[in-house]
Amino acid sequence: MTREAHVTQGPLTTEAGAPVADNQNSETAGIGGPVLVQDQLLLEKLAHFNRERIPERVVHARGAGAYGTFTLTRDVSQWTRAKFLSEVGKETETFLRFSTVAGNLGAADAVRDPRGWALKFYTEEGNYDLVGNNTPVFFIRDAIKFPDFIHTQKRDPYTGSQEPDNVWDFWGLSPESTHQVTWLFGDRGIPASYRHMNGYGSHTFQWNNEAGEVFWVKYHFKTDQGIKNLTQDEANRLAGEDPDSHQRDLREAIERGDFPSWTVQVQIMPAADAANYRFNPFDLTKVWPHEDYPPIEIGKLELNRNPENIFAEVEQSIFSPAHFVPGIGPSPDKMLQGRLFAYGDAHRYRVGINADHLPVNRPHATEARTHARDGFLYDGRHKGAKNYEPNSFGGPHQTDRPLWVGSAVTGTTGDHAAPSHAEDDDFVQAGNLYRLMSEAEKGRLVENLAGFIAKVSRDDIAERAIENFRKADGDFGKRLEAAVQALRG
Ligand code: HEM
Repeated sequence: MTREAHVTQGPLTTEAGAPVADNQNSETAGIGGPVLVQDQLLLEKLAHFNRERIPERVVHARGAGAYGTFTLTRDVSQWTRAKFLSEVGKETETFLRFSTVAGNLGAADAVRDPRGWALKFYTEEGNYDLVGNNTPVFFIRDAIKFPDFIHTQKRDPYTGSQEPDNVWDFWGLSPESTHQVTWLFGDRGIPASYRHMNGYGSHTFQWNNEAGEVFWVKYHFKTDQGIKNLTQDEANRLAGEDPDSHQRDLREAIERGDFPSWTVQVQIMPAADAANYRFNPFDLTKVWPHEDYPPIEIGKLELNRNPENIFAEVEQSIFSPAHFVPGIGPSPDKMLQGRLFAYGDAHRYRVGINADHLPVNRPHATEARTHARDGFLYDGRHKGAKNYEPNSFGGPHQTDRPLWVGSAVTGTTGDHAAPSHAEDDDFVQAGNLYRLMSEAEKGRLVENLAGFIAKVSRDDIAERAIENFRKADGDFGKRLEAAVQALRG
């Protein structure tokens, strides 16, 4: 629907619908006298305005979204019983919110930061959310480190700015971040737009089929627009000239009918392979090399409809890694496990207990049938239906079939690191990524890293940061050390 179609006709009214006589002058006691409390319109306008903001997302505050369609192009029922993945040609409505991670709501788009990729599939069995990034890996592998990590990315409590000391202190002391940091400071660290980058589910997830067999799966969304990036200088300029560059690009492309699309691929690992795979397959700091598990093309994702109201549909949209549908479930990835809690909790705080009733968030291809009731802004949708189960009044009932298949566990409880595998280490994949780069790419990577590390105030923090890259690749470390020294003098 066009924007023009939404023009409201008729007289202006108060929130209660009474006609407004004067929207220019507030009511006073005589000409030049004080303002009166009986001016309901004035009080209502000022009070409503004060309450326009809801808490911004604690991470990924800055973003843009669009609706679209996922079309299945390959039968995957041998691996999952999810109905939306059951018939070639089947279409599922989607909503995708892109974001940057560290910036606040009004931050510029063209910055070096991962891009969020939060994709909602409105399936006939409920909403399935895939809350990933434009990178296949992440900085850490245990959710318990996430608040500390994000504190180093956000504003320092004393200076009120992001501090290179904090960023590099944390990364230097968290060697598992080396792979993701190498990725982030390489060419793909600043996409030219949301359309010109890939998306990844990043974690490993469970698929299970009708027979109850389990597969581990990773999702990839390969941009059909081609990868395009900005250099640091280009980004610095664009961030100043057009802070909304990514958001504008996405909206305008869809408005002109140039619908962006992505080819959807999965890597599939039979459950039996996991225990003896060379890396821990549930470690989010690592990719599964394609020679081990080749990507299989399964569908197309297209974005073809802009939201009509950014606040209602983008700011209030909620995505949770815990929103699964039958045939899909979590893996034992410790990061993912922590995220299963964090998002629903954030939604209850940020949007409220009935956030799932909003049009963008509720199921579109089925209905939610729960006994949850009431709370702030409950709209009475259940009318007089019984609000408990079991009941003898024909209410909704359980299916007795879990969405995913359980895993066998052994041992004692404790603060355990994830199980280690033969070739697990924090540097090998970062080194491989470096060695894959052309000479020119390596040069830009070293320059980008050095420019940031050189701002660190303490030598020991800078040296520890460089040491991680040295362990990834000797040449990488040597060049970085020289570049940092040249800048620090
Ligand atoms: C344990 C680690 C993590 C925790 C505790 C965490 C927590 C959060 C929280 C609280 C939000 C805000 C949600 C909201 O207010 O609606 C968020 C947003 C987001 N996170 Fe994470 N996160 C973690 C790791 C990750 C990882 C590994 C990825 C990607 C692979 C990711 C991708 C996103 C995205 C895309 C959003 C924005 C969702 C949206 O558009 O509404 N996060 N995260």
